[in-house]
Amino acid sequence: RGLFTYDPGFVSTASCESKITFIDGGKGQLLHRGYPIEQLAEKSDYLETCYLLMNGELPNAEQKKTYVDTIMSHTMVHESLVSFFKGFRYDAHPMAMMCGVVGALASFYHDSLDINNPEHREISAHRLIAKMPTLAAMCYKHSKGMPFMYPDNSRSYSENFLHMMFGNPCESSKIDPIVAKAMDIIFLLHADHEQNASTSTVRLAGSSGANPFACISSGIATLWGPAHGGANEAVLNMLQEIGDESRIDEFVKRAKDKSDPFRLMGFGHRVYKNFDPRSRVMQGICDEVLGAMGAENDPLLKIAKKLEKIALEDDYFVEKKLYPNVDFYSGIIMKAIGIPTDMFTVIFATGRTSGWIAHWNEMISNPYKIGRPRQLYTGYPQRNYTDLEQR
Ligand code: CMC
Repeated sequence: RGLFTYDPGFVSTASCESKITFIDGGKGQLLHRGYPIEQLAEKSDYLETCYLLMNGELPNAEQKKTYVDTIMSHTMVHESLVSFFKGFRYDAHPMAMMCGVVGALASFYHDSLDINNPEHREISAHRLIAKMPTLAAMCYKHSKGMPFMYPDNSRSYSENFLHMMFGNPCESSKIDPIVAKAMDIIFLLHADHEQNASTSTVRLAGSSGANPFACISSGIATLWGPAHGGANEAVLNMLQEIGDESRIDEFVKRAKDKSDPFRLMGFGHRVYKNFDPRSRVMQGICDEVLGAMGAENDPLLKIAKKLEKIALEDDYFVEKKLYPNVDFYSGIIMKAIGIPTDMFTVIFATGRTSGWIAHWNEMISNPYKIGRPRQLYTGYPQRNYTDLEQR
């Protein structure tokens, strides 16, 4: 012991230098390349934000058009990938399918293995951002036993995703512009969040020289956990379990009981000790979407609103600075849009792909070392092997 700094959970260890995203958790501030998330949510869109994360500057009009056209030209997946889905059971969790099919993209794009070539890195980034919504919608269609939808590149990125989710090949789908805009903001708000568990995983995997599809697949696997991206699904499951406003106090009590492992899902954050700025934007869209869908009286929403109020006033949550996080509201919006609960984390993964790939590219473009943490060994000292008959 004593040879290495011990920092479980990397609470006070910086793993890298980065110019992409800045968070001041005390102030509740989130900046992408210097731009506040609130301004990006109001004035930008998801693909423009992807460009910003990757390239460091907002595009001019011509650059933006070229970028959007390029991304949309990569939305299709190889037809052989359809066979991968046929191998999954109908009730497979979509995140399990995503881990597999995203990693498998490397088998179609051999240039992705050449990570030292910036042009190859760029086209891999374009392919990932473009194909994530297609693969996400394929997971959903597979679970429903419905035919896969080809992308419609005349639509915007987010409208196209909803078209592939909810459309069918027999008729042209009409997507409500309010819903398409809300979807785009959900992707945008999830685009990056500096060195969270999944992004750190992507960097660690990338530090070995692994190809970008394998790295993003490892990020998807990490995101799946309920303490990270899986929380949006866990929030909805929790609201359903609470079931009625009269039972909220019981669950709040459980969350405060240290002998009970239960936590209020959608509350608390490692970095934010103030309102997460993304939650405020999400809160606004939540009201707008539910209004547009006529779902203001949704019983789960009522439970959510009451829970939020109680938690914001309760001494335990106030003292520990446990504010509603981005996952608290996003789940409610996605439920209103008609997205099934088990797809929530897939949507988080789709948005976060831009941040993952920007961090991977930033690392590979600069001098880096393979990530190799050390440990404090607490096991046996050296001892002699015991023969089987003497055990
Ligand atoms: N409900 C009840 N108590 C909580 C909660 C909660 N949601 N979150 C933290 N606490 C308590 C915790 O018991 C601990 O109390 P004490 O100091 O008495 O032991 C204290 O607050 C600090 O918690 P921690 O676990 O040490 O904090 P952390 O920074 O390691 O964990 C967290 C952050 C997000 C994992 C945690 O707050 C949590 O489990 N929240 C619920 C799950 C969730 O909503 N996750 C989404 C995170 S945001 C999106 C993302 O990153 O993907």
